[in-house]
Amino acid sequence: MNSMDFINLGQYLKEKQKLVNRYLGLIFRKFDQRRELIKAMDHSLMAGGKRLRPILSIAAAEACKKDFLYALPACCAIEMIHTYSLIHDDLPAMDNDDLRRGLPTCHKKFCEATAILAGDALLTHAFNILSEPELVFEKYPDTETRINLISKISRAAGIQGMVEGQMLDMQSFLPEQNDNLARLKKIHALKTGKMITVSVEAGAKSVKADPERIKKLGVYAEKVGLAFQVVDDILNIEGDPEIMGKSAGSDALNDKMTFPAIIGLDESKKFAKILIDDAIDSISQFDKAASPLRAIAGYVINRDH
Ligand code: IPE
Ligand code: IPE
Ligand code: MG
Ligand code: MG
Repeated sequence: MNSMDFINLGQYLKEKQKLVNRYLGLIFRKFDQRRELIKAMDHSLMAGGKRLRPILSIAAAEACKKDFLYALPACCAIEMIHTYSLIHDDLPAMDNDDLRRGLPTCHKKFCEATAILAGDALLTHAFNILSEPELVFEKYPDTETRINLISKISRAAGIQGMVEGQMLDMQSFLPEQNDNLARLKKIHALKTGKMITVSVEAGAKSVKADPERIKKLGVYAEKVGLAFQVVDDILNIEGDPEIMGKSAGSDALNDKMTFPAIIGLDESKKFAKILIDDAIDSISQFDKAASPLRAIAGYVINRDH
């Protein structure tokens, strides 16, 4: 990072969070707020996540010097899919967590069946938003671009991405594994990396960036995605649950395969730093329009929640 890169990241994140939240609000305003399903979806979605994935989409569109408003349908769809993954991840059958985004988890606030259905509906409605964006958004990509987004996002979220990563994560307990590190990298890349990578790519694709740029952004995103989950593992040990809005210590308790458990805390921090340096390197040919992307990469390893 150099002096041309100065941005007020705190303000940038806040502004973009507000924008994404406004559009998420518009999506749900169309439904009767008294419905239990809508209440449960709203509880988890609007609880105050960092909105990192949509912000990455916006920053990627900006890095390509295009109008990022075209990326907002993808931003909202991705955040809805991410939120569904959190609701299901917290269920008793999975991580059995009580706290998420500073509030009781969906199944604690409502009930298990409602939480499952709220997740299902968030996932399904995300693809409705991508296919019918005109119902909510002033600007949106053309039909061909949207089909491409649906294809990329569904791949990242499903059998070749997040859901498979969650499956492998569920099957990974420390004492049983041999080829630990390679396996763990694969799990992290699938369960977290793919959705982060597609966020960056979807931002660039939404504004029809040129393929060469999208390729470089893809490298950036894969590094950031893996670093993000390594830091999530570190925060599960060192983080303050008050600040994180979710429980800490659960990975060790559940004998989970994590980076600190396999290579140790210090090595995990070093590894995350190397990934972030590589990520920033991979977009070194981008000018100051990519300053937010570089700053976000730094934030991923310095964050406390
Ligand atoms: C948490 O994601 C789950 C992981 C994939 C590590 P975030 O840390 O982005 O959670 P929110 O969206 O800010 O709540
Ligand atoms: C969650 O991973 C990844 C998802 C796909 C939801 P974790 O289970 O490690 O994340 P937290 O710590 O509950 O947020
Ligand atoms: Mg989990
Ligand atoms: Mg979890």
